[in-house]
Amino acid sequence: MWPMTTPAAVIVDATAYAQAVEDATRAAAAYYAGGSSPMDDDAYDRLARGIAAWEAEHPGEVLPDSPTGKVAGGAAEGDVPHTVPMLSLDNVFSPEEFTAWTESLARRVDREVARFAVGPKLDGLAVAARYHAGRLTRLITRGDGTAGEDVSHAIGTVEGLPETLAEPVTVEVRGEILMTTAQFEHANEVRIQHGGQPFANPRNAAAGTLRAKERAYTVPMTFFGYGLLALPETGDELAGRLDELAYSELMETAAGLGVHTSAGTAVPDVVVETPEQVVARVQEIAALRAELPFGIDGIVVKADLAADRRAAGSGSRAPRWAIAYKLPAVEKITRLLAVEWNVGRTGIVAPRGVLEPVVIEGSTITYATLHNPADITRRGLRLGDHVMVHRAGDVIPRIEAPVAHLRTGEEEPIVFPDACPRCGSDIDTSEERWRCAQGRNCHLVASLAYAAGRDQLDIEGLGTTRVVQLVEAGLVADLADLFLLGREQLLALERMGETSTDNLLAALDRAKEQPLSRVLCALGVRGTGRSMSRRIARYFATMDHIRAADAEAMQRVDGIGVEKAPSVVAEIAELAPLIDKLAAAGVNMTEPGATPPPPADADGATAEAPGDGGPLSGMKVVVTGAMTGNLERLSRNEMNELIERAGGRSSSSVSKNTSLVVAGEGAGSKRAKAEQLGVRLATPEEFAVLVADLLG
Ligand code: IVH
Repeated sequence: MWPMTTPAAVIVDATAYAQAVEDATRAAAAYYAGGSSPMDDDAYDRLARGIAAWEAEHPGEVLPDSPTGKVAGGAAEGDVPHTVPMLSLDNVFSPEEFTAWTESLARRVDREVARFAVGPKLDGLAVAARYHAGRLTRLITRGDGTAGEDVSHAIGTVEGLPETLAEPVTVEVRGEILMTTAQFEHANEVRIQHGGQPFANPRNAAAGTLRAKERAYTVPMTFFGYGLLALPETGDELAGRLDELAYSELMETAAGLGVHTSAGTAVPDVVVETPEQVVARVQEIAALRAELPFGIDGIVVKADLAADRRAAGSGSRAPRWAIAYKLPAVEKITRLLAVEWNVGRTGIVAPRGVLEPVVIEGSTITYATLHNPADITRRGLRLGDHVMVHRAGDVIPRIEAPVAHLRTGEEEPIVFPDACPRCGSDIDTSEERWRCAQGRNCHLVASLAYAAGRDQLDIEGLGTTRVVQLVEAGLVADLADLFLLGREQLLALERMGETSTDNLLAALDRAKEQPLSRVLCALGVRGTGRSMSRRIARYFATMDHIRAADAEAMQRVDGIGVEKAPSVVAEIAELAPLIDKLAAAGVNMTEPGATPPPPADADGATAEAPGDGGPLSGMKVVVTGAMTGNLERLSRNEMNELIERAGGRSSSSVSKNTSLVVAGEGAGSKRAKAEQLGVRLATPEEFAVLVADLLG
């Protein structure tokens, strides 16, 4: 079962009611005219239900414009009268509401309804197609239900609506015109080629296309019939026969005449007998929704038998013999806050939209796919735009289009990356889908460049460009290969003279001596950045002890909880071959100054935390501002390493638990906070004295 739709809007007084009616009228007019509505379906439904609730309490104050009192939509320059009004449908949103409807229907017809026809509620536009002697003569939109617009110019562009019927009958076929997903994509492509803005969704595309009279191009649409009725000119015999047919028989007749109906689809109209069977069928259709090649926004349930339909009759807005069982909206309007660029396994650089969270079908959506840069450009998206977000089933939500008329002018262009956001290499932009020039090697380049970085192995002269060169030359396929590079191999590379080669080899030699904490950090185990790597290395002291640790032992490291411990242990186990190779290449695997933990006692507790006994033992230290004197050359990471070697814990924010703030030149808010909280302050020079033993 899907979640219930959001509740009705709450209307508190007559002023709010008038505003609500105005908003709903404007949205409905835009919707039926095929324009882009400032409200998504869900918001509209909520508003309409709020209006109905208020009117029920204030029957004397109902405004003439209210969407509840008339056929939704209003006339869009309608000039062709309908022979029989084209009505709308009432909605239900849950099994309970549906049961209530069947009960009221049974009361009205004075018996249980014997058979229900259940089929898809097609998300398009209602039209009436008039056939005279089997020839399609006129196509009319619903308009305000009494009269609609003549859109006969579209005849010939609508699949499923034959220009000639199989028999020379005079009838009106009613149904829905829509664009299938494929037709919608095609229509947008053609429209963009002609310099137009893409349509936000298939419904808008069908509406816009149907009403466009003088377009330089035509794009196909699809018709689904759901009604067959006599025209005044229809012979009595046929008219009388149609009156007696069950809905299911009418549809068979229509199909027999050559009209497209739901019959050939994955969700054909079926006839069932009980309300329970209806609800079961509703759920089946809902489950198939995401895979359908066309959009549905609900399920239509109709009394099948002509006698039941006659007995139920119609109101001014909707028939009483049919109901729309609405499915939760799959499209909502929200804002595009940012665009992230992610690099996939194959090196594809794909944009992803970060959204203002919005609930669609019961789940909160915060990300949506944006296919590629060209697509962003085509859709004319900007940061801060209101966007239509579409989500069907479990598919990743996608951004359909900006809602251009909601722009404030504050929107900003989306900036495309000019280098691979993961490894920093060039991006191949020759195809629509951008790709890191490293392709599948992107990950390797990124991880090697990270390992060589200043806070990890600090290998001078090994930036991204050089890493790319080594990878492309096939000289390195993993981190350990770096330490196996030979002088001749390097010299053979372009732009590698004797000096650069010797410098790089020397830097690699120095890197082998880096403390275990940095080697561990260079391995890039998820969830273990610089400070976590230091904590692990200081706790276990040697790589062998780290590798011997199970999840329980891993949890004894400060900051590693039940969730993180097993993944760290598993990843280290996976890295075993690489670690062995690094050790064999002579890379240091111990943490200077740390001692391995004693074996755990029965409770799993260890005696003493490593680092105890140092000059900063038990202290929480924050460093801020520029370091001077002996500490001048130390990066912030190196300062933190120093603090931890001295038995302290480094932290980046000052609180009342902070023991010491080392404030260098230019220290600002952190020093102020320390003063305010009465936390001990030290200059870099004073601090250097404290840890003099460790500065060597
Ligand atoms: S039967 C008297 N069947 O939904 C109206 N309508 O929201 C009987 N619609 O106005 C309509 N799919 O435009 C019917 N299978 C279906 C439908 C369907 C879509 C539309 C129709 C109607 C609107 C009401």
